[in-house]
Amino acid sequence: MKNKSKIFLVGFMGCGKSTLGKKISSKLGKQFIDLDDFIEDAEGMTIGEIFEKRGEDAFRVLEKEHLHTIINAYDDVVVSCGGGAPCYFDNMKTMLENGVVVYIKLPAEVLVSRLKGETNQRPLVANLGEEELLDFVKSKLLDRIPYYTMSDFIFDSLNEKEKDLLTKLI
Ligand code: S3P
Repeated sequence: MKNKSKIFLVGFMGCGKSTLGKKISSKLGKQFIDLDDFIEDAEGMTIGEIFEKRGEDAFRVLEKEHLHTIINAYDDVVVSCGGGAPCYFDNMKTMLENGVVVYIKLPAEVLVSRLKGETNQRPLVANLGEEELLDFVKSKLLDRIPYYTMSDFIFDSLNEKEKDLLTKLI
């Protein structure tokens, strides 16, 4: 039986990890941590500034380090991970060894409609037009699906209800 004290939510940008994470954490009586917010607080910079000043590779190193910090410092926690987090280094293996990982799944078209108005806060999609955004999401999603689908559970966000997920996490 897996230890369910730490829950990690993974999935593409815009899939609703933070919104769902906040809801389920309160229902499960756990703390909620957004990995991106945690990095921003620790580094004193926004994710956009980190990408701009230090580059994506440096961001990925910080992401890995802060994921380890959270794992070592917290129990009874729901962690919402940035969309790329499970796809770099051995982050996915680390999460699977330390708790339950849930992939929040949504089709590319739905992700794009959610991301459209919010590209400014996300350096990877900043300045993309609608068509470029769809191409980007489709191709990045294909690259990332092999990592996302290593999760313990897949939550089909279009067809399943929050309570369906909660029953698996209790
Ligand atoms: C990223 C997703 C972002 C953030 C960074 C990179 C990615 O998090 O970590 O901009 O590589 O998909 P969200 O998925 O919370 O937007």
